[in-house]
Amino acid sequence: MLHLKLETDPRWATIAEDNIEEILTDHAWCEQKAATNAITIITHNSQYVDLVTDLLELAKEELEHFQMVHEIIKKRGYKLGRERKDSYVNELYKFMNKGGNHLQSMVDRLLFSAMIEARSCERFKLLSQRIKDKELSQFYYDLMVSEAGHYTTFITFARKYGKDIDVDKRWKELVAFEGELIKSYGKSETIHG
Ligand SMILES: [Fe+2]
Ligand SMILES: [Fe+2]
Repeated sequence: MLHLKLETDPRWATIAEDNIEEILTDHAWCEQKAATNAITIITHNSQYVDLVTDLLELAKEELEHFQMVHEIIKKRGYKLGRERKDSYVNELYKFMNKGGNHLQSMVDRLLFSAMIEARSCERFKLLSQRIKDKELSQFYYDLMVSEAGHYTTFITFARKYGKDIDVDKRWKELVAFEGELIKSYGKSETIHG
C-alpha cells in the first residue's frame, strides 16, 4: 500500500531493540515534530475547512502518540532525552519546491508529510514484527495502523487540492528521491536512522 522504493534492512530492528531508551526518546520527538508539522500546514492553509478539520484531529493524535511514548519512558524508569535532530527528515525536506506558487508548495508539503508517515509506518511494522518485548510490539503495531491512516489523509488532500498539478508524477519523483536517500539509512538507533 505504501509503495516505498526500498524496504528497511531488518537488522535495523535489532539495533533499535538493543538501544530502546534511545529509540523511545527519538520516537517521542518524532511525534512532537509530526504534531508541529500538522499545525504548520493548518497555519498556511486555513482557507480549506476540511483540511483544517482533519489535520487538527491528526495533530491531536500525534500529540497523543507523544504522550503514549512518554508514559512508556516513565514506566520503564527511562529519561526523555533532549530533542533529536532528524537528518532523514531534513534531507527529505530538500525535495520540496520552495520557489513555486502557493498550491505547489502546499501539495509538496502534503506529499513530504505523507512520505514521512509511510516510512515511519514501515519502521513501526518492522519493530512490531521483530521486537521481542510484547508491550512494545503491540504498541508499534497500533501506531503502524494510525500512521497509515495519516499517510492516507495527506495523500488524499494533495490529490484533492492539487487538481491542476500532476500529483501522481510529483509523488513518483518523491518516492524515487526517498528511495535513494534511504540507502544511507537503516544503520542507527533512531526511528528514521
Ligand atoms: Fe504518530
Ligand atoms: Fe502520523
